[in-house]
This record gives sequence, structure tokens and C-alpha cells, in this order.
Amino acid sequence: MEQTDRETAMTALYEDYATMPVLARLAAGRALVRGHGMLSAPVAVVGEAPGEEEDRRGLPFVGRSGVLLKHLLGSAGIPWEYCYVTNVLPWRPPANRTPYPFEVQASEARLAAEVALVDPVVVVAAGEVAWRGLTRGSLGRFADARFQWHELDGRRLLAVPHPSFILHLKSEEAAEWKNATVDALRLALPQKASA
Ligand code: URA
Repeated sequence: MEQTDRETAMTALYEDYATMPVLARLAAGRALVRGHGMLSAPVAVVGEAPGEEEDRRGLPFVGRSGVLLKHLLGSAGIPWEYCYVTNVLPWRPPANRTPYPFEVQASEARLAAEVALVDPVVVVAAGEVAWRGLTRGSLGRFADARFQWHELDGRRLLAVPHPSFILHLKSEEAAEWKNATVDALRLALPQKASA
């Protein structure tokens, strides 16, 4: 699909989704933070919902979590420029609360269509909400799936902890989780054949 066709389809997708009555309360008075990045990116990264900084700037993962996410991907050899970054919810929930299950459910179809439009090789679910929004319960619990590669709709799917979870840990523990995340992300890249 041509880039402009993808852009048009993405805009239509978000327009339909944003008028769902069940989401009206969440959407009221808030910035709609759409996915961002190369529309034919090889890697799609899915988070939970925009935070304060994202709501202010209208872009996903531009606050502290985004800085860490970018660093982890970069450490695994995945440039940010090769990623399409989006969230289950495009609106910041009040006081950064966790999205309600009905909000995640209402977003599942849009998220699946959004990923299909980008058509990446690899999808990274950052955190439990992203895992639920993407898998709709079909691949078990996030805690069991974390750091492992799965297959979803013919794409490779990796579950990693949400960067904000890592940001709340003490430095030694955070270092362990960062290393485990980078190690898992490294497997996204084509592996060199052994000699
Ligand atoms: N956390 C998320 O899950 N998404 C963002 O865009 C920012 C913080």
C-alpha cells in the first residue's frame, strides 16, 4: 500500500474509533494521541496510554518512559526511526489511572487494524495492558509471556515490561530488568548463522 493510502486509512480508522459512545467520557476534553512513526515500520511498539507529557505534546512516548524505551530499543540495535509507536488508548486516563477493561476491549479492533496497516515484522507489547489489547486473552497471562517471543496474526510478538514499571524500581533491580528486556529485544533482529 502507498504511504498516502496508509495515512488516509489510518486517519479514517481513528475517526471511527474516536466517536465510539463507550469512549466519549474518556475522550472529552483530552488530546487524541495517535500512533507515530514510519507507517511501514518493521517494528511496532505498543504501550498503554499517553502520560502527561504525551497529552501535552500530542505524541506517544515522548516523556520519561519514552526516553527509556528508546534507550532499550537502541541498546538492542533497533533504531527508534524504524519503529511505529502507539498505545492501546490514545487518551490520557484521568490521573494516569490504569485503563478500564471495557476501554481496552473497545480499543482492540482499532489496535489490530492499526498494526495490520503498518504491517510490521515484529510487534513489541510494552506492559500488561498492551499485551491484553493485542492478544485479547488468546495467549495467556502477561506474567507468563514476558520476555518471550510469540506469534500473533503471522507476526512475531514480544512481551516486555512497561518502561514506567522499570522506572519505579531501585537501580540494581532496574538494571536487571533492563538487561532482560534488551536481551529479549535483541532476538528481534535476524540472527547470524553460526559458522
Ligand atoms: N506510557 C505509555 O504507555 N505510552 C506513552 O505514550 C507514554 C507513556
